[in-house]
Amino acid sequence: MKNKLSDRIININESKSIRVAAIVEKLRAEGKKIISMSIGEPDFPAPLEIKNAVKEALDQNQTRYSLVPGLKNLRNEIAHFLNKQHHFSDKINLTSENIIVSNGSKQSLYNIFQTLLNPGDEVIIPIPYWVTIPESIKLAGGIPVLVKTKNLYLDLDEIKKKITKKTKAIVYNSPNNPSGMVYSQESLIELANLAIEHDFYLISDEAYDALLFDGQKPFSLASVSQEIFERTITVQTFSKTYSMTGFRIGYLAANIELVQAMDKFQGHLTGNNCTFAQYGAIAALKMNQKTIHEMISTFEARRDLAYKLCIEIFSCVKPTGAFYLFPNVEKYYNRHIKNDEQFSEWLLEKAQVATVAGSAFGMPGHIRFSYATSEEDIKNAFGQIKAALR
Ligand SMILES: Cc1ncc(COP(=O)(O)O)c(C=O)c1O
Repeated sequence: MKNKLSDRIININESKSIRVAAIVEKLRAEGKKIISMSIGEPDFPAPLEIKNAVKEALDQNQTRYSLVPGLKNLRNEIAHFLNKQHHFSDKINLTSENIIVSNGSKQSLYNIFQTLLNPGDEVIIPIPYWVTIPESIKLAGGIPVLVKTKNLYLDLDEIKKKITKKTKAIVYNSPNNPSGMVYSQESLIELANLAIEHDFYLISDEAYDALLFDGQKPFSLASVSQEIFERTITVQTFSKTYSMTGFRIGYLAANIELVQAMDKFQGHLTGNNCTFAQYGAIAALKMNQKTIHEMISTFEARRDLAYKLCIEIFSCVKPTGAFYLFPNVEKYYNRHIKNDEQFSEWLLEKAQVATVAGSAFGMPGHIRFSYATSEEDIKNAFGQIKAALR
């Protein structure tokens, strides 16, 4: 049959990190002992309080549709959390009307691009980026405009060069997947000034907002002033902070006009997300956060260990957030290994360690390690890599 599939679907790439996960599962099923450092999710179970709240919601028959943007109670709690922990109360004071809950922040981002973009609109993306970003822009008819960073940090001069009359938005992610970098508040405020000057939106993907190390505090650009808030969409998720990836609960905060437009879109796409899972999210925000702080401390200890072992082999900028390392691997290129994808495949075969090639994130020459795995796995993985490279 001719033109069996739409141009839309032909023009997007599959998620490479999801593909690596499928290869790992296949190799393990064949009996191979693979250490996976390719996974983008915490290895902890969801905390008990969250699971109990979902069980209780089921027992109370909370099994029907909820409001499209999410349970009012959940949106109230999210607004309260952002007001308090991300300091929105100082200048903005969010209410439930500023929040829309979706099936993971993956859908929040999809909602945003579908709501904002007309065909040919340009969206600036600093490299490296999370794999889904350019594809969801393309699915909305937009054009991803990739921009270089400096030593993995935002490069405002490079961004300025890419701004055109068609620039509709910039989407950045800090703490960053795949690099673990946290962009400075000063650079983000400078970016906001550019957005005001050239009249475009700021989309701030804060999926790893709580996974900050070395005493850093969460920072949401949208909380800085009413003027910045009006053109900034803040995207967050329960997936990483609360180890709730399977619950599929993400959300965004924005001005009411944008939220209403996205509510209209989501109403036709998915409606609400799983009603009883939303009760788990309420419990996550209300529970004693000690468990979460312990989880973050564990990640920080793993970051220290993984970074120490990593720089014995590769050159790598020290990450200060999320749970990734993103070293440069070019010094190991040779006649047989000519790029990061081949290097990542070679590691899987010779060291039995799964990683994701940097080209998946728009930055060839690197690979991504996720240290959302045990200290034992981290030690073994780098030990095996060292041995294989010898
Ligand atoms: C930067 C970034 N944004 C968003 C997401 C989406 O997460 P979820 O859809 O589980 O909320 C991810 C997941 O890996 C991510 O790394």
